[in-house]
Amino acid sequence: MPDEFFSLKGQIAIVTGGGQGIGEGIARRLHTAGARVAILDLNETTAESVAQSIDGLAVQCDVSSAESVRQAVSSVERNLGAISILVNNAGISGKAAYLWELDEQEIDRVYAINLRGVYLMCQAVVKSMLEKRYGRILNVASIAGKEGNPRLLSYSSTKAGVICLSKSLAKEVAGRGDITVNSIAPAVVQTHILDTIPKETVDYMVSRIPIGRTGKIEEIAALVHYLVSAEASFTTGQCYDISGGRATY
Ligand SMILES: NC(=O)c1ccc[n+]([C@@H]2O[C@H](COP(=O)([O-])OP(=O)(O)OC[C@H]3O[C@@H](n4cnc5c(N)ncnc54)[C@H](O)[C@@H]3O)[C@@H](O)[C@H]2O)c1
Repeated sequence: MPDEFFSLKGQIAIVTGGGQGIGEGIARRLHTAGARVAILDLNETTAESVAQSIDGLAVQCDVSSAESVRQAVSSVERNLGAISILVNNAGISGKAAYLWELDEQEIDRVYAINLRGVYLMCQAVVKSMLEKRYGRILNVASIAGKEGNPRLLSYSSTKAGVICLSKSLAKEVAGRGDITVNSIAPAVVQTHILDTIPKETVDYMVSRIPIGRTGKIEEIAALVHYLVSAEASFTTGQCYDISGGRATY
């Protein structure tokens, strides 16, 4: 890729949940484009191994904890400098079950990581983006947040929340410099998150994808790269489909 197109040279990026799966793919792609990347993950070991391989920074962080988020963000600022790119990717599917089979602690846990985690991270970085009048925030939602998958009610509703949180924040920061906030809605991608979902639920999701296959991590990372680049300056508050044609709106 020529340097001048979509270069992220000189940029400092955070990728939450970057220790494996889609987050790891995004971290590697942003690094290849020139960014210094901080991996914030609950799992210190995987975060460290990805960070080492891309000359990045690993920070152990639980995105659902305000204190953990504050400490992690200040560690990135101290070690790498001001954050210009935030990718909120950390998420869990929760237990696949009908609403009446779930206890509230299980539902609350999915909400805490998938939704509270996103607003806490946004809060922790957006003030400095406003001061610098530049920033890119990209939140990983899901097609589940548009369609509502059965037996994944908590997951689907948190992802709907992420889509709308992104739209609201985009409008709050619009016109205060070049700061954009977008989300993406991938359909099924082959990662470890699928180990926690029963095969019949995964088959149901894949059967609804017209292209007829799961998405690839690299395909997601490419879209994220564009959306966090300086070039994507007239695009904000949008939810980008990357669902093999599943999305109808
Ligand atoms: N794989 C899919 O089919 C798919 C489809 C649509 C959207 N997504 C979304 O993409 C994102 C990444 O999913 P994945 O498939 O790569 O999952 P994954 O399970 O492979 O990776 C998730 C990462 O998040 C980290 N994490 C979990 N809880 C955390 C917490 N509290 N604080 C910090 N880090 C935490 C994990 O340690 C892990 O490294 C998620 O938000 C997921 O909802 C995935």
